[in-house]
Amino acid sequence: MTRNGVAVEFTDVTRVYGTVRALDGLTLQLEPGEMVALLGPSGCGKTTALRILAGLDDPTSGRVTVDGRDVTEVPPNKRDMGMVFQAYSLFPHLTVLDNVAFGLKLRGKNKTERTDRAADMLDLVGLSAHKEKYASQLSGGQQQRVALARALAIQPRVLLLDEPLSALDAKVRAQLRDEIRRVQLEVGTTTLFVTHDQEEALAVADRVGVMNQGRLEQIAAPADVYAHPTTPFVAEFVGLNNKVGAEVADGTTHVLGATLPVAAGSISAGRGVALVRPESLAVTADPAGTAQVASVSFLGPISLVHCTLADGTRLVAQTASAHAGGLAPGTPVRISIEQTEALVVPSAAA
Ligand SMILES: Nc1ncnc2c1ncn2[C@@H]1O[C@H](COP(=O)(O)OP(=O)(O)O)[C@@H](O)[C@H]1O
Ligand SMILES: [Mg+2]
Repeated sequence: MTRNGVAVEFTDVTRVYGTVRALDGLTLQLEPGEMVALLGPSGCGKTTALRILAGLDDPTSGRVTVDGRDVTEVPPNKRDMGMVFQAYSLFPHLTVLDNVAFGLKLRGKNKTERTDRAADMLDLVGLSAHKEKYASQLSGGQQQRVALARALAIQPRVLLLDEPLSALDAKVRAQLRDEIRRVQLEVGTTTLFVTHDQEEALAVADRVGVMNQGRLEQIAAPADVYAHPTTPFVAEFVGLNNKVGAEVADGTTHVLGATLPVAAGSISAGRGVALVRPESLAVTADPAGTAQVASVSFLGPISLVHCTLADGTRLVAQTASAHAGGLAPGTPVRISIEQTEALVVPSAAA
């Protein structure tokens, strides 16, 4: 199968429900064949964006185009969108094969076409051996694979995935996440994947768009969003959850005794707050240290060391558990920061 995706574009899309601005000027382009993940907390407007693209909801203002054509007035059944939701969307009393073939029947395909296409799709998601079972006999992860096969069976122009993994347990979730990406690359369908799970978004998408209160705060390749968040909200979302007083001048910042270059999005001068990842901090036991260990959380291969600075600031450092042995609560420590650029934001924003 070749990449056959189409371009999708949201232009200044707003959706107001009463007093809630579910979407507030969303502008977003998906390249043909691209997979974009919209990432953000519950209530930030992800599902609304997806429903508007599917035609299940109308924007209050703004436009949506698919393959260059304005679809704002096109009814949902004419948009050719494949959708997968959180869970429990299969018909439990139909077989797996009939579930996958369902949309093809609605589209007037004859029985042979339907069966062949559904069988191909079940091959694609690795469930051929289960095609005669009832949907209700499958595990949650298998049901979501069937839902994916069903969504793709109609050869949709766009694939819409609304938190398809959130009802599954962690191990199945990671497996299915990789499976969805493999299948998406194979079929080449332009895909909008929405999730509140940072790791999931970063793992599957070509680009990740971080949403906050109906707005897109930043959109970039996963490694970029992770390494160079440009707003305090995005920073917090990708794990820069330490806040340390910092001073900025001439493109550098003084923080925790180190001098670091400032990251894009930082204040240009004066006092602010540096946002720092636990992985960027190292803790060393030192009788002359001015910080103190408050507690240690053991997480298997790594541990989180919670510390208190002389001025009362609390910080979390991540360390290999093998190094956490000498760091009992109360131990005086020295905290050092990795030599990378630092995002320094106004104190009021942090
Ligand atoms: N049909 C609706 N009527 C009223 N408010 C709604 C409706 N749908 C969504 N909202 C509100 O719009 C905001 C965004 O919702 P939603 O798009 O579902 O967020 P998400 O999918 O990111 O959790 C929320 O505040 C939600 O309560
Ligand atoms: Mg939602």
